[in-house]
Amino acid sequence: MQPADTDLQAISDVQPEEGMSAEPPKPAFQSASIKFIKEDKEVVAAQGANLRIKAIENQVDLYTLGGKLMNCGGYGQCGTCIIEVVEGMENLSPRTAFEERKLKKKPASYRLACQALVNGEVSVKTKP
Ligand code: FES
Repeated sequence: MQPADTDLQAISDVQPEEGMSAEPPKPAFQSASIKFIKEDKEVVAAQGANLRIKAIENQVDLYTLGGKLMNCGGYGQCGTCIIEVVEGMENLSPRTAFEERKLKKKPASYRLACQALVNGEVSVKTKP
């Protein structure tokens, strides 16, 4: 049975209640971006993406030869995935305990890519 024209008219006349928006809800997905300066590559990522994984997915080489041969696979143990954050440090997750230990004698702008989660725009240099 087809709805009568008056039924359709009644549905289209429904107004949002006070306090409700007629706009559709915004999607939960928020993006972040990573600019790899040396490689001249900009990568868009979901908010909270792991910097090391995004680099690997986008063929950005994080490791020197020693790191290529022997790295911990992203567990914060080897310290070979060091990057320098040039811009957007505030858009990364705070340093982890692993980073505090591994980067004790390094500048404050250094991070371990495997421990850093991206929440906005950042620019980084690999193999500083
Ligand atoms: S991959 Fe080993 S510390 Fe990041």
